[in-house]
Amino acid sequence: MPKTIVILISGTGSNMLRIVEETQHGILRGVCTISAVIANKSDAPGLSLARDRGLKTLCVPSKGKEQSIFEDALLTTLDRWNPDYLVLAGFMRVLSPSFVAHFPKRIINIHPADTKLHQGLGAYKWAFANKLKETKVTIHFVDEGVDTGEIIAQFPVDLTGVTTEAELEKRGLAVEHQIYSKVLRDILI
Ligand code: GRF
Repeated sequence: MPKTIVILISGTGSNMLRIVEETQHGILRGVCTISAVIANKSDAPGLSLARDRGLKTLCVPSKGKEQSIFEDALLTTLDRWNPDYLVLAGFMRVLSPSFVAHFPKRIINIHPADTKLHQGLGAYKWAFANKLKETKVTIHFVDEGVDTGEIIAQFPVDLTGVTTEAELEKRGLAVEHQIYSKVLRDILI
């Protein structure tokens, strides 16, 4: 039986889109089904991209809401599908310990740095500012901390010759897109 997943996004949704493509036509076909793509921002560009691909999409707004109110609304929404896994793909809201406790080792995130060296926002900015020759992309389970959960897999991003932060981010995202679905496949199969 394919596992069911819900993908949570906040913005562009390029990682989400790749997972959708792999689920519809690639290595995740038959491995999982995507019950819905949920954003915490109504203007997240990824929402319409997912809708265009035939997915159920919705917004559970978080702006100006107390964390517990937002998370209660998210939990109520998720109850409709009772997904096996939550897949975070550029979801920029920190989830509380009580929310995470509903999905032990069932929330997966991609972080664009080695989570042992960098947590939180701005990972590509950090790599550029520190003139790293290589950074890492980390896929990890979400625990009660910020990017502190058990590491599932890490992949290097070669940064030699990078001259701008935009170029660095492009290289990093290319690696993210290549690896996220592969790692999800290993977990979900
Ligand atoms: C990615 O770099 C992801 O690792 C980070 O936020 C960015 C989201 O990009 N958590 P996108 O929305 O998937 O294009």
